[in-house]
Amino acid sequence: MPAFDSRFARRFARPTGALELMEDLGSAGPGVHMLGGGNPARIPEVEAVYRRRLAEIASDAVQFGRFVASYPAPGGDVRFRATVADFLAARYGWQLTARNVVLTSGSQSAFFTLFNLLAGESAGGRLQRVLLPLAPEYIGYADLGLTDGMLVAQAAAIEELPDGFFKYHVRFDGLEAVPDVAAICVSRPTNPSGNVLSVNELQRLDALARNRRVPLIVDAAYGQPFPGIQFSEPELLWNENVILCLSLSKLGLPATRTGIVVAAESTVEALTAFNATAALAPGSTGPVIVEPLLASGELDVLCREVIRPYYRSRAGEAVEWLRDDCRDLPLRIHRPEGAFFLWLWFPGLPVTSQELYLRLKARGVLVLSGHHFFPGLADSWPHRNECLRINCSQDPASVRAGIRLIAEEARRAFAA
Ligand SMILES: Cc1ncc(COP(=O)(O)O)c(C=O)c1O
Repeated sequence: MPAFDSRFARRFARPTGALELMEDLGSAGPGVHMLGGGNPARIPEVEAVYRRRLAEIASDAVQFGRFVASYPAPGGDVRFRATVADFLAARYGWQLTARNVVLTSGSQSAFFTLFNLLAGESAGGRLQRVLLPLAPEYIGYADLGLTDGMLVAQAAAIEELPDGFFKYHVRFDGLEAVPDVAAICVSRPTNPSGNVLSVNELQRLDALARNRRVPLIVDAAYGQPFPGIQFSEPELLWNENVILCLSLSKLGLPATRTGIVVAAESTVEALTAFNATAALAPGSTGPVIVEPLLASGELDVLCREVIRPYYRSRAGEAVEWLRDDCRDLPLRIHRPEGAFFLWLWFPGLPVTSQELYLRLKARGVLVLSGHHFFPGLADSWPHRNECLRINCSQDPASVRAGIRLIAEEARRAFAA
C-alpha cells in the first residue's frame, strides 16, 4: 500500500469538511432525509429543456462532435466562451470578449487554481492569504491551499430582524489592516446563509481590493445572471479587478462539472495554462447543452420564470414549517435572500452543532453542521457552533419530515 507521505498527499488526501459533505451526498439511501449537500432540485420543466437539447445534439454531427468527440481548447469550448462574453456584454454593458472567459471542471476547481495562483508562499517567502470578509462563508474554500493558513476571515456583524430573522453584514472596520492579503473573496448569494451582499458592500470591497492592489473574487454560483437564485439586489459588478466565477451546476447540471471564470485576460491566460497542464482541457458537455439556450435568451426566461420562483417558494414553505415546529425554541433564521439553503441559528445551543448533526444523522436526517463554514476565522466565536445549514430544495415530504426531526432534536438538546 502506498504511504502517501508527500507534502501534497498530507494536504489533499486527508479528511475534510468537503469530503464529509460529498460522501454524505453519495451515501444517502432510501429513507434518509437529505437536507445536506448542495444538490440542486430536479425541476421537470427545466429538465425537459435539457432533454430536448440532448436530442438536438444527438441528431447533429457538429454539435455531437463538440459534445463528446473532440478535445476542446484548454480554456474550454470556444463558442460557449464567446457566447458568455456576448451575453454579459449585452446584459451589463461590460467590455468583454471570449479572451475574458475561461472554463474549468466545475467552479470548485477554479477556486483551487485561483487561490493557489494568487496566495500561498510568495517569491519573497511570505505567506499571502485570501481574505473572506464575511464569515460564515462557503465550506469549499477551506483546505484548497497548497500551504496551511491561506485563508483569513472576518466574522460578520449580525442584525436581528423582526419575525425571528437575522441578517449578516460585512464589518468593514479593520479590514484594510488585515496583513498579507493577496485576494478578497465572497460568495454572493452566500453559501451557507443565503445572504446577498448589497451592491454598496460589493463596491466597498472592490475599492478596498483596488487600494490593496489585489483582485476581488465574486462567486456567483447561485446568483446573477444564471441560475439567478437571488431574491434581492439583482445588480452585479465586474471590472478588470473583479474575478467573477459562475457555474452551470445550480442550473440543474452539476454532473457536467462546468465552471466559468470571467476575468482580465492575464487571469484567464493563467487559468488556461493550468487547465492544459493539469487536465488538458475542461469538459464540453455542459457548454454544448447550454450555449444556444444562453444565446437565444431561453435560459434567461427559465431562470426568471421557473428556477428563481421555484427556490423562492421552497424557502418560504420551509420557513413556515420551521416556525410551526420550533415555536418554543430560540430559533433564528437568516433571511433567505438567495441560494437554496436555510441557515438556522440556535443561540445558546447547549451542544455543539456538530453533535446535533451527528444526532440527526443517527435519526436519518442529513444536514450540515455550521462549524464547517468559518474557514480562516481565528477567534472562538460561539456562533460558529450554534448553526445548521439545511438544503430546502429537495423532495418536500422529506424536507417536512426532516424539519420535524431537527425541531425534536434541538428541543431535546435544550431540555437536557
Ligand atoms: C458558493 C459555491 N461556490 C462554488 C461551488 C462549486 O460548485 P461547482 O464546482 O459545482 O461549480 C459551490 C457548490 O456547492 C458553492 O456552493
